[in-house]
Amino acid sequence: MKDIQETLQSKQRQEFIILSAGNPLLLPKVEQMWRECNAELLASSEYGEIVCRYGSSQGYVPLIQAIAVYFNRRYGLSLSERNILITPGSQMLYFYAANAFGGYTSNKELKQIVLPLSPEYTGYGGISFAPEALVSYQPTLDIDSKAHRFKYHPDFSNLVITENTGCIIFSRPSNPTGNILSDDEIKKIVALARPYNIPVFIDSAYGPPFPALNFQDMTPVFGENIVHCMSFSKAGLPGERIGVAIGDPKIIEVLESFQTNLCIHPSHYGQAIAARAINSGALELVSQEVIKPFYKNKFSVLEAKLDQVMSKDLPWFLHRCEGAMYGWLWFKNLPIADWDLYEKLKLLGVIVTPGRFFFPGLAKDWSHQYQCLRISLTASDRDIETGIQRLADVVQNVYQEAVVPSI
Ligand SMILES: Cc1ncc(COP(=O)(O)O)c(C=O)c1O
Repeated sequence: MKDIQETLQSKQRQEFIILSAGNPLLLPKVEQMWRECNAELLASSEYGEIVCRYGSSQGYVPLIQAIAVYFNRRYGLSLSERNILITPGSQMLYFYAANAFGGYTSNKELKQIVLPLSPEYTGYGGISFAPEALVSYQPTLDIDSKAHRFKYHPDFSNLVITENTGCIIFSRPSNPTGNILSDDEIKKIVALARPYNIPVFIDSAYGPPFPALNFQDMTPVFGENIVHCMSFSKAGLPGERIGVAIGDPKIIEVLESFQTNLCIHPSHYGQAIAARAINSGALELVSQEVIKPFYKNKFSVLEAKLDQVMSKDLPWFLHRCEGAMYGWLWFKNLPIADWDLYEKLKLLGVIVTPGRFFFPGLAKDWSHQYQCLRISLTASDRDIETGIQRLADVVQNVYQEAVVPSI
């Protein structure tokens, strides 16, 4: 990852096709929406109260109220303000969760932070003060060889949830794969956790209702030990750092205490414009009509190009993209490591993300870890197509060179 940053900061930056970014694109209609909310805020009498005063450590009250009203109406819930916590970005929320519920207890017992399906969001890799607490599980693979597609599922025959589990976290839709765990899979995970009162954090950074980067039907799941977690980053506000946890007040209070000690409360400004975008309906509209179709279309461009230029005879597989903003590729029995493939592509001016970074918490080395790449959908259509053409050429050579000629 450091190598990607250093490469992009180097002088040749303009020459690279960047298929590695996790930063959402600046979409003009999205930017315009935030600009309008901002102008309204600047003109309002609320301004001084927002920037010149401290507030509640639970978050900016009008945003909490806006979320409660919106979710109750949209999903038929009966949330009160006690169910909601605002954090400075959702990454911080997972840090609170991992260290409040996972890690060492006062009796020196280790409570695990379980990621039920690996690969997972690389950002979970460093969230615990006790890195040994993080445990993830190899999935099962559902492979469609003819179509060159595949999909991961949690392997319930291996997943271990016990009184030693502190919390469970997973992204839905997933970064890096775009996988959406089914309602049944979630029910099973939640049922395994419930007897021990283990909180299940469902990271919905890409999910509905905002930014709604789900390309198939998907409804957020709520329930006693579930914490529905959101982020405003992929809805166009990554710089403002706003994360949201919705769950049982007992869990929310623990997270809030952590937050009070750490930073008193998240910055107000972004929260105030977010509240406006929710209350006016603009955020829901822009998510459904601008953000979702934009990335869905990008994925179609990627998929069509891969099908056009990748050899039918090679064992390459694209993960079924059900959401998020990435394509996840697996090259079965890849003769070189993912890192070497990344280096070869870099020499051709294409930057992708090697897959190995997305397996935090796996106890045993797994060859699959070194056979994957993540392609970000934040480049122009032309760059995606050119990048994939170069990838196809490199991959063809790599497999061909591995076939030792018989003399
Ligand atoms: C799955 C997932 N969760 C959480 C985050 C963190 O988002 P933020 O801290 O900006 O809310 C990201 C960022 O890319 C992500 O991909």
